Amino acid sequence: MIRLGINIDHVATIRNARGGIHPDPVRAACVAAAAGANGITAHLREDRRHISENDIQRLLEHIDLPLNLEMAATAEMLELALRYRPHAACIVPERREERTTEGGLDVFGGLARLRPLVGALLEAGIRVSLFIEPDLRQIEAAHALGAPVVELHTGAYCDAPDHRRERELARIVEAAGAAARLGLECHAGHGLSFETVGPIAAIPSIAELNIGHFLVGEAIFIGFDQAIRHMRIVIDRARQG
Ligand code: PXP
Repeated sequence: MIRLGINIDHVATIRNARGGIHPDPVRAACVAAAAGANGITAHLREDRRHISENDIQRLLEHIDLPLNLEMAATAEMLELALRYRPHAACIVPERREERTTEGGLDVFGGLARLRPLVGALLEAGIRVSLFIEPDLRQIEAAHALGAPVVELHTGAYCDAPDHRRERELARIVEAAGAAARLGLECHAGHGLSFETVGPIAAIPSIAELNIGHFLVGEAIFIGFDQAIRHMRIVIDRARQG
């Protein structure tokens, strides 16, 4: 069965909009575990705009599922990954001014910079994946680096207008096939929703999907009603004394 990793970053985004502790991404990870998630994914960004180091520490303490730490290829993040020792590390490109991870990592152009980082993570027993565009050159570079896993960026496919979506899907199908032929485990993620996930989940060589933003948004529509009804009960009980 294809594994489902739940990215909880945007629970922390909502928490951080107010400061304080609510909503707690660790509690969201517990809900994800109870709902059948196979892993938890969290991106510790350089600017700590959502997940914090304290969140990573608490996730490791309280969640039984494997933690996939998304991280930029920096010395600071390498040091943190070696300190926390998550099950997996997914190396992502990161620009401070971007709203989200825009595009994949340039593994082909960054082989020299990435080699020691990937080596250090693997040596520490951390499964390394590289978040790349569905591009043969990037897949071959990931293979040359010795990374066991690639995660294909599905953003272009998800954002494509209808007339271009098939073409973007074909790129992912082709890339997933190429990764499998090279013996790489293949994951996919970014921007997936109920509408877009089907054709990606149907690709046999994709072993894992990582999904976050859509689910946090969708939880509003699935859960807002219940939260309001519960608030009504709490208020009415208080009035009755
Ligand atoms: N996979 C990777 C490597 C990512 O960087 C992200 C976004 O942080 C995701 C998956 C999840 O994307 P989304 O939040 O759009 O579902």
